[in-house]
Amino acid sequence: MLKDISLFSCLDDEAIRHVERVALRKRFPKNTIVFSKGDESDSLYIVESGKVKAVIHDEEGKEIVLSVFGAGEYFGEMSAIDGVPRSATIMTKEATEMLIIHRDDFKRSLSSSPDMTFNLLKVLLERLRRANQKIESLAFTNVYGRVANLLTQLAEPSGREWVIQEKMTHQEIANMIGSSREMVSKIVGELVEAGYISIEKKQITIRKKLA
Ligand code: CMP
Repeated sequence: MLKDISLFSCLDDEAIRHVERVALRKRFPKNTIVFSKGDESDSLYIVESGKVKAVIHDEEGKEIVLSVFGAGEYFGEMSAIDGVPRSATIMTKEATEMLIIHRDDFKRSLSSSPDMTFNLLKVLLERLRRANQKIESLAFTNVYGRVANLLTQLAEPSGREWVIQEKMTHQEIANMIGSSREMVSKIVGELVEAGYISIEKKQITIRKKLA
């Protein structure tokens, strides 16, 4: 199983067996907090099945989603590496099974494999690029553009159209682009009206190029 996760794929069999021996497997129900921003904790989490989101909140409790992690992806590497408190809250979006690896074991694996360290760096750089895109979008793009960018990023081709597999509420879209639910509802309504998108049972289909 661990061999299928890209982070560990370059470890030799003995190193994989060691990680499998020390990893803890845990199941979290839907909408459960795995840990909160500011927590002192020191493990790496790997998603085996299900989905979680990394979020931060403003003083009024408004949520902004930094990222979503699904099967094969991992989170918590920041505190596991530098020991600084957790930089975001992690909450399950569905029932999620995870492997939890203590910092000491994670660091041992990293120091035994330069390829694994390089893999991790590539993932961190990809996250940095996405964070830059998010800053750019928040600073320079209006809410219409942010909705259009998000829908375009999430959509997958299906025949001549593009479908967003994940069903999202207007509130969830708002949390992902740093806007209000009311504004998102207005824009989504206008996009439907103009024939750019259609929505059936909360599933969005893009019918004309948005961005
Ligand atoms: P850590 O700080 O240990 O706990 C919260 C985790 O959320 C963090 O490690 C990363 O795994 C993840 N995270 C925090 N900020 C971002 C971001 N901007 N993009 C993607 N993932 C993030």
